[in-house]
Amino acid sequence: MKARAILCLALIFTGAVLASAANVRTSWLMNCSECHGKDGRGRTPEGKRIKITDLSDKRVQASFTDEQAFRIIKRGLKDDDGPVMHPSDYRLTDDEIRELVQYLRKFPKR
Ligand code: HEC
Repeated sequence: MKARAILCLALIFTGAVLASAANVRTSWLMNCSECHGKDGRGRTPEGKRIKITDLSDKRVQASFTDEQAFRIIKRGLKDDDGPVMHPSDYRLTDDEIRELVQYLRKFPKR
């Protein structure tokens, strides 16, 4: 009986982790990939047009901290020509933003 309860909890937990992994991927695809690309390399028409950085490049990854990435995603980003990332375009909670930061950190390894 006890073993069954533990197994059951384990399954629920795995399910939750998998669901969250799927959500962050969906969130990346829906909100970010148009510019940054599915793989973070930014080889999209929009990414090329705005000459986006390659998030699969370790040097690019080293150029910002998790904290800075969080702020960029939350508040948006401007360059000399104006806003390049519009925070209001993505309705993300702080937790979802943190998950996205962890997600994009893995691009160099994919
Ligand atoms: C409209 C195009 C666009 C969308 C959509 C977009 N970004 Fe960006 N993002 C940019 C540009 C442009 C930069 C600046 C790149 C640079 O420094 O040249 C940038 C920079 C970043 C950076 C800082 C890294 C760097 O190279 O400076 C992070 C982190 C980031 N974006 C994450 C995200 C996440 C997460 C999403 C989805 C929620 C997202 N972006 C959606 C255009 C976009």
